[in-house]
Amino acid sequence: MEILFVSSEVEPFAKTGGLADVCGALPLHIARLGGRISVITPLYRETRSRLQTTACEAKFSVTVGPRTFAMQVLTSRGPADVPVHFVRCDELFDRDGLYEAGGKAFTDNHLRFICFSKAVLAFCRTSGMQPEILHLNDWQTALIPAFMLGRAAQDPLLHRCSSVMTIHNMAYQGMFPPEVFDLTELARQQFWHPGQLEFWGQVNFLKAGIVNADMVSTVSPTYAREITTPEFGCGLEGVLATRAQDLVGILNGADYTVWNPESDPLIRARYSIDDLAGKQDCKRELLERFSLARSLMQRPLIGCISRLVDQKGFDLIEEIFDDIMRTDAGFVLLGTGEQRYHDFFTRMAAQHPSRVGVLLAYDNRAAHKIEAGCDLFLMPSRFEPCGLTQIYSLKYGTVPVVRSTGGLADTISDCERDPERGNGFAFADYAGSALLDALVRAIACYGQKERWKALMQRCMACNFSWDVSARAYLDLYRRARDKKMGLGD
Ligand code: ADP
Ligand code: GLC
Repeated sequence: MEILFVSSEVEPFAKTGGLADVCGALPLHIARLGGRISVITPLYRETRSRLQTTACEAKFSVTVGPRTFAMQVLTSRGPADVPVHFVRCDELFDRDGLYEAGGKAFTDNHLRFICFSKAVLAFCRTSGMQPEILHLNDWQTALIPAFMLGRAAQDPLLHRCSSVMTIHNMAYQGMFPPEVFDLTELARQQFWHPGQLEFWGQVNFLKAGIVNADMVSTVSPTYAREITTPEFGCGLEGVLATRAQDLVGILNGADYTVWNPESDPLIRARYSIDDLAGKQDCKRELLERFSLARSLMQRPLIGCISRLVDQKGFDLIEEIFDDIMRTDAGFVLLGTGEQRYHDFFTRMAAQHPSRVGVLLAYDNRAAHKIEAGCDLFLMPSRFEPCGLTQIYSLKYGTVPVVRSTGGLADTISDCERDPERGNGFAFADYAGSALLDALVRAIACYGQKERWKALMQRCMACNFSWDVSARAYLDLYRRARDKKMGLGD
């Protein structure tokens, strides 16, 4: 089966969050299972320095409204020899930042991703590639199923090609003013109504994917159920419910070649489930790096690596921060995002210089050091499609404290409610008091050395490698193909 995997971010070439991790790792695992897969993504400024050799595979132009953009597709080999195609159009993608700079979204994001989506189809045509599956990820690529439908009559290639739309986060839908519809050049009668791209008078890119893709998936089973309800569907719950038969939840995996304390080159010392000594070195280095009290070596150190946005539950952390400081724990945060959280954590670091370390930056090396050097990992999300950092924390023996929602509910179970298999501390209510209760239980457990060590080892033994999920995607591709050929249910 030939698959073209389409994403606006792919590790190790460009990243703002977990989307890149998934789109870097999943194609390799599909390739290992025998799928003929290649990846296509924009060529951003930050990508250039990370590319080795490339060959120019195609040149064409894409017209959007009155403007024509010259495009090139450069191809390189990614890990495991998977071809990665980079769509080059400097006017659109050669900028600081992927979607924004200095906290301000680019005003032409609609144009950038209409162009990218058209370029993906133009590339298939000009290069002669005939994928059976186009696998699309998030709103940036979600117009493609509508384009495929709109053009199927003129384009024989598209008759054979099915689409799979993966939603990584319902909170980001790519919503633009109605004038943007004309730039898509989709037929108004067919696509401009509430059953298609129109959403309360706006153009909604993600909706185009949900409505028109052959199959739809999201990144955990619990989130797949949640998004058909008003609390999590972000207004598209009704549309998703109409696709319930074709909607599946497949849990993300972790790339243990990158996130593994036994081999991680970015941490001070390697360690394993049988020899935990190195973790202490990693903790010591982290305390030094943030100039925190040495006495924290014997006390619990809480870590947090995140986009600083409401999704991640920072209002709860803010609410109980004084209570956390009344325990004996230390706290280290790495993140960027909303100004109010930058201000809050800057203040907390100033108030508690020996116990609170804050790095307001995007820094992959620091992310690895925090995963390794902390004892507890905090993730009290309001909603969480999957979440990867809690999965990475497990591998590093850094015990997660999470709110049970979405993928957090599918990966972390409370060790006091489930003493046999529990791998963290979990709470249900979105309330500061519930988070505090879970943290206090975790801190008490840390004080019981044998119990804590057994818990760490149980965390480290958890296996969320991609193998199982990659097979589930291959099944999904088959379902999409059968549906297209009229063999489906
Ligand atoms: P989301 O995609 O919602 O941001 P995930 O848990 O799925 O959340 O993935 C987050 C990814 O981004 C992880 O690889 C994490 O290490 C990384 N990350 C988040 N914030 C930062 C940061 N400030 N610096 C470096 N890496 C970060
Ligand atoms: C999104 C979600 C996150 C998920 C990631 C990768 O950014 O917020 O929960 O892990 O996508 O699927």
